[in-house]
Amino acid sequence: MAAFDVRSGEKTSVVADPAGRAETTAADALVVFLAEEGVGHGVAADVDRASGGLVARLAAAGELTGRRNECVPLFVLPGVQAAQVLFCGVGKADRVDAGVLFRAAATAARHLAGRPRSTVAFAAERSWPAAHLEQAVAGSLAGMVGQDLHRAEKRRTAFGTTTWVGADAAAVATGAALGAGVNLARRLVNMSPDELYPDSFAQEAAAVAARSGLEIEVWDEERLARERCAAILAVGRGSSRPPRLVLLRHRGGGGAAPALALVGKGVTFDSGGLSLKPSESMLTMKCDMAGGAAMLAAIATIATLKIPVDVVAAIGLVENMTGPAAYKLGDVITARSGTTIEIHNTDAEGRVVLADVLDVVRGLGPARIVDAATLTGACMVALGHDVAGLFTNDQNCCDAVAAAARAVGERVWQLPMDPEYDEQIASDVADIKNVGDGRWGGAITAAKFLERFVGGIPWTHVDIAGPAFAEKPRPWTDGGATGCMVRPMVELARSLAR
Ligand code: BES
Ligand code: MN
Ligand code: ZN
Repeated sequence: MAAFDVRSGEKTSVVADPAGRAETTAADALVVFLAEEGVGHGVAADVDRASGGLVARLAAAGELTGRRNECVPLFVLPGVQAAQVLFCGVGKADRVDAGVLFRAAATAARHLAGRPRSTVAFAAERSWPAAHLEQAVAGSLAGMVGQDLHRAEKRRTAFGTTTWVGADAAAVATGAALGAGVNLARRLVNMSPDELYPDSFAQEAAAVAARSGLEIEVWDEERLARERCAAILAVGRGSSRPPRLVLLRHRGGGGAAPALALVGKGVTFDSGGLSLKPSESMLTMKCDMAGGAAMLAAIATIATLKIPVDVVAAIGLVENMTGPAAYKLGDVITARSGTTIEIHNTDAEGRVVLADVLDVVRGLGPARIVDAATLTGACMVALGHDVAGLFTNDQNCCDAVAAAARAVGERVWQLPMDPEYDEQIASDVADIKNVGDGRWGGAITAAKFLERFVGGIPWTHVDIAGPAFAEKPRPWTDGGATGCMVRPMVELARSLAR
């Protein structure tokens, strides 16, 4: 079928074999998903029958438990043609959903990608709905790519061919596009900050746009000045790398105004600026453009899938540094909207950048705006590493984002936006200040700041400071960038097209 680029310079072909059977599939390895209840009625039962009951005996002996994240390889299983069968646990059968399957397929792929393999087959259950199969396929692509960009000796090697057996071809193609989108976002986030800076991000975006048939506009510093984007320019002033704003457009619906605007925080490195971060907190701050990478990858995937809806994406790209021209505490910036911002902390830079990006997007008159940003450490304090924070001015808009995230197995949780929090960002000298009073409720005061720039358009802010970057490996990933919010944003666009 089609070949999808899953990391720079390397390709895996993803193929569907709808009529194929697990036991008769020739491959270097065959992945079979197993529930805690045992072989059941699906693929595991087929493989068990072919092997003369061996699988059921191993399950009864406790060698195969079907627990989540368990990966047990059996080399040479009688009656099964593949050279190796990898049993991959999915937990309780009635708890299997898109997220469980994304992570299970990624876990299996990660295990097998530890050495080069030319053909790996995954056996889909015919009982899975297309929505589950798609996410499993996406997971298989995510799992075979690690954080090897800058390593001579790779820890993961993408399979030559990935075959999904007993799987609908259209769902496999959609899943492969989703997996490629997730890996695109991950690659950009994992790139070193010296390599990925505002202009090089914009060039990556231009290459992606050309590949996927998106319209693109890149605003350089002169254009940003002409467009009165003083907030973006202020944050960028401390860096030798000038800021950029990337605008992408997918015209799938033929409407006048976009149904959806995707906005991303693209701080390619966040030193904190003059409110300098301590060294330990700065180490992973190449991830501060994860929202921008997610929105770029999402709109590219939306275009690849030809989803019939009009979408625009806008990414504000800056490097937050301490150079001689750096913006200062006490500075008052007139943002593009005319709102004046008093700077109390240069490390609260994401909201300042997004102030102008949101205003640009507001001018395009979208029906709704969703932004993704690694905005606050406070959101990680509230929700931990695995859950993104949701904040909204419109409950329907937020419900649609939450439903899309849940449908693909990403975790989100809404936090309150009561008007009382607005008092915390009142300034003595300007319209607003860029931090709250003290650190309590810091994720909410940041969202309240953003709300000032959406002009009443239905809007949801997704704070991905926790889920964007995995500092430690997990069973389904080597760690580093996760590509979170790519699949939910594509799902949201699909739900708007329905
Ligand atoms: N990029 C950070 C938030 C962040 C922290 C993302 C950890 C990912 C992991 C953001 O720009 C920031 O520095 N926020 C400050 C805001 C504070 C100064 C009001 C924070 O959270 O400490
Ligand atoms: Mn910061
Ligand atoms: Zn930041």
